[in-house]
Amino acid sequence: MTKETRKRKAEHIKISLNQNIQAKTVTTGFEDIYFVHKALPEIDKQKINLSTTVFNHKFAAPLIVGAITGGTPEATKINLTVAEAVEELGLGMGVGSQRAAIEDKKLEKTFTIARKKAPTAFLIANIGGVQLVHGYGVKEVKKAIEMIDADAIAIHLNPLQEAVQPEGQTNFKGVLQKIGEIAMKLDKPVIVKETGAGIAAEEAKRLETLGVKGIDVSGAGGTSFAAVEYYRAKGRKNSFQRGLGDVFWDWGIPTAVSIVEVSQSTHISVIASGGIRDGVDMAKALALKANLTSLSQPILEVAVKGVKETKNALSLLIKELKNCMFLVGADSVQALQKKPLVIVGKTAEWLKTRGFNTETYAQRGMN
Ligand SMILES: Cc1cc2nc3c(=O)[nH]c(=O)nc-3n(C[C@H](O)[C@H](O)[C@H](O)COP(=O)(O)O)c2cc1C
Repeated sequence: MTKETRKRKAEHIKISLNQNIQAKTVTTGFEDIYFVHKALPEIDKQKINLSTTVFNHKFAAPLIVGAITGGTPEATKINLTVAEAVEELGLGMGVGSQRAAIEDKKLEKTFTIARKKAPTAFLIANIGGVQLVHGYGVKEVKKAIEMIDADAIAIHLNPLQEAVQPEGQTNFKGVLQKIGEIAMKLDKPVIVKETGAGIAAEEAKRLETLGVKGIDVSGAGGTSFAAVEYYRAKGRKNSFQRGLGDVFWDWGIPTAVSIVEVSQSTHISVIASGGIRDGVDMAKALALKANLTSLSQPILEVAVKGVKETKNALSLLIKELKNCMFLVGADSVQALQKKPLVIVGKTAEWLKTRGFNTETYAQRGMN
């Protein structure tokens, strides 16, 4: 990895911790989604079972920490902390893009620390989709998986980020076909993941046909990579790039919309991410048929403080999810996925305009 790339990764972390890089006008859509409160839950809250099996792995709760980092000294500490927390809680995590360590063996330890501290947790390796049309293939993907003895590999798609950053790689022609080749040749599940702009039904269907086993929607409404690039450009006094970051700050498919687009058009596992901030967001995502939920930026904030703080933040999310499940009378994740949801406002309009039926969610359990 060039010094420049390493510097960029360090800048991402610094900006994510010190600036507000959350979406401004676009929202996740969860604010338009309501559960139907159950005055008679008829379940014992203590007996709610949060465990779920996805990608043939049993998770203690449907929660993972999304890809954040690797390749820099501060990344080692972040990956170590998150790994220790998810191991203790029986969850999972994704590491950040492993390109750095594929190109420079010395940096491997910033990633391998994750498996060292999380011997049994579900670990997701990470590689950029655009790298697949710039020389990467099965060999590099296998290397990324072996590096952390990963349970799955996430191929991330970040056209928005590449388009607004000065050093961006904007030739995405052929990425889909390459993903297909990788999915065909690997025995570990391939997950395709966005990075804050969401995935639409058309793409999800194509990816399913190619043998992709999971989609992490990473929709709009949470962390904005255009915002990260806005602050990087500002630091360099690059007014053109700063302007681009500003104009595209709120670009993307809202997370709740993307979950419906993907879950209604494919049969593969769905990870909900992008602006998930509490246990109620998690519950809504699961009720929309996501299989797992994931957070990145809020966990980065606690990971720099320590393992205890990270564990507390994750435990709080799980408690909030459980509380929400109690109030709708769901004693398992499967039961939650059958609970009625009312979808209103902008999110309902968006989904209807795209041809998705929102009424079936509201009528669940009525007949
Ligand atoms: C500092 C930082 C670095 C990230 N690096 C990666 C990465 O290397 N690979 C990737 O797939 N996603 C990366 N992401 C995107 C996240 O995995 C996630 O999709 C996105 O932040 C939306 O989730 P959030 O709103 O909970 O933060 C990064 C996010 C942050 C905040």
